[in-house]
Amino acid sequence: MSHTLTQLTYLVASVLFILGLKWLSSPATAVKGNRISGFGMLIAIVVTLLDQAIVTYQVVIAGLAVGSGLGLWMARAVKMTSMPQMVALLNGLGGGASLLVGGAEFLRSELVNEQLPIDTSITIQLSVLIGAVTLTGSFIAWAKLQEVMTGKPILFAGQKAFNALLFLAVIGLSAYQVSVPESVLWPFYAVVAISLLLGVTLVIPIGGADMPVVISLLNSYSGIAAAMTGFVIRNEVLIIAGALVGSSGIILSQIMCKAMNRSLANVLFGAFGAAAGGGSTKTAEGLTVRQTSADDAAVQLAYAKSVIVVPGYGLAVAQAQHIVREMADLIEKKGGEVKYAIHPVAGRMPGHMNVLLAEANVPYDKLFDMDQINAEFERTDVCLVIGANDVVNPASRTDPGSPIYGMPILNADRAHSIIVLKRGMGAGFAGIENELFYNPKTAMLFGDAKGSLQKVVTELKAL
Ligand code: TAP
Repeated sequence: MSHTLTQLTYLVASVLFILGLKWLSSPATAVKGNRISGFGMLIAIVVTLLDQAIVTYQVVIAGLAVGSGLGLWMARAVKMTSMPQMVALLNGLGGGASLLVGGAEFLRSELVNEQLPIDTSITIQLSVLIGAVTLTGSFIAWAKLQEVMTGKPILFAGQKAFNALLFLAVIGLSAYQVSVPESVLWPFYAVVAISLLLGVTLVIPIGGADMPVVISLLNSYSGIAAAMTGFVIRNEVLIIAGALVGSSGIILSQIMCKAMNRSLANVLFGAFGAAAGGGSTKTAEGLTVRQTSADDAAVQLAYAKSVIVVPGYGLAVAQAQHIVREMADLIEKKGGEVKYAIHPVAGRMPGHMNVLLAEANVPYDKLFDMDQINAEFERTDVCLVIGANDVVNPASRTDPGSPIYGMPILNADRAHSIIVLKRGMGAGFAGIENELFYNPKTAMLFGDAKGSLQKVVTELKAL
C-alpha cells in the first residue's frame, strides 16, 4: 500500500473521529457519533495492518479475536451503574498498551544497538511513564468503585512529599536514560517500576465517589500516552486519536469539577469524604419531615398541569427509568406536562441520567439542562425528585460551611410542591443534610424508587 494512500486514509479516519466526537455531544446524535468513530477506528486499523507487517497476520487475528470477544462480552455484561468501572478498566488497558509499545520499541533498539534520535527517546520515556501511571491508577480506580478495596481516601503522613519524590525520581531517571550514550537498562526498568507505583499512590488518597473525575483524567492520560506512542512508532492516526482523547478527557474533567464547584486540585489532593459528614455545619435537629403515600402522590400528579422530574443517583440504583417513563405517559394522558431536569453531575458519571432515560425511550426533547430549566421551577405545580439529593440541596446557596457551597443546583425548592422519592433519610455523595427534605412544601415518599413509582403508576391507572 502506498504511503500517500495510507496517509490519506488516516486523514479520513481522523475526520471521522472528530465528527464522531461532535455528534457524541448531543443525545440525539450520540449513537450515530459512536458508530462513525468506530468506523474510523476500523479503517485506521485495517490500513495499519495492510501497511506495516510488524507481526504475522495469524498473531494479529488471534489478538483481534480474543480482544474483541472479551470487549463484546464485557460491554454486554456490564450494568449501567458499573459503567465508570468499565471505563476505568479500558483506560488502564490503553495506558498498558502504550507502556508495552513504548517499552518494546526501547528494548528493540537496545537489542540491535540502534542509536535512537533524541525526540524518539523522549517520547518513549513519556509513553512508558504516562502509560504505567494510567495502568495502575485506573486499576485502583476500578478496585475502589467495584468495592474490591475501600472507597475512602487512604492517607498517610508525608504522602504528598512521597509522591513528589517519586515524580522527581522518575523524571530524573528518564532524563538520565535519554542522555547516556552507552546502553544501560536499569534506569528504564526503574522508570517502569516507579511509574507503576506512582499510579497507585496518586489515586489511593482520592475518595471513591470522586473517581469519575479521576477516571476522566486518567482517560486523558491514556490519550496523551497513546499520542506519545504515536510519535515513537511514527503513526499519525495514533497521534491524532491520542490527542483527541487527551484533550476531551481533560475538558470533561474540568466540566465535572465546575459543576461540583471544586477545583481539579481539590479533587486530586483534597481527600474529599475522608472526614465523616463532609464538614457541613448544619444538622436536622428540631426539623420535621412530612411523609406522603403513593396514593396521595398519584392524586397530586394526576391533577398537576406541570411536573418536573429531577432524577438522581438513586434512580440508577433502583433501575426505575422504565417506570418513570410509564408514569410520565400517564400524567400526560391526564393533561399534565412532564419535563426532566438534568443536573450535569447527577448520578455518578457524565451523562448518567441521559443514558438511563434514553434506555427507557424518554424523548430527548423532554430532557432539559440545568440552565434551560431552572427558571421554570417557580411556575411548576409538582417537582418530583427521584433518588436525587445533592443536586437539589439548597445548602449550596445558603450554607458557606457546606462542602457543596457554591455548587449550582436545580431549583427544586422553588416549585409549588415537591415530592421526594428515596428509601430513608440517607445522605447523598457529599454526606450532608438536605434542608429541602424539611421544607414545608416537601412531602417524602419513602421506599425504593422503583417500588414507590410502581405503586404511583397503579394508582394513576385507577384514577
Ligand atoms: P446523591 O446526592 O448521591 O443522592 C442519591 C440519593 O439517592 C441518596 O440520598 C439515597 O438516599 C437515594 N437512593 C439510593 N438508592 C435509592 C433507591 N434504590 N431508591 C430511591 N432512592 C435511592 O445523588 P445526586 O443528587 O444525583 O448527586 C450526585 C452526587 O454525585 C453529587 O454530589 C455529585 O457532585 C457527585 N458526583 C457526580 C459525578 C458525575 S459526573 N455525575 C461524579 C462524581 C461525583 P437513601 O439512601 O435515603 O435512599
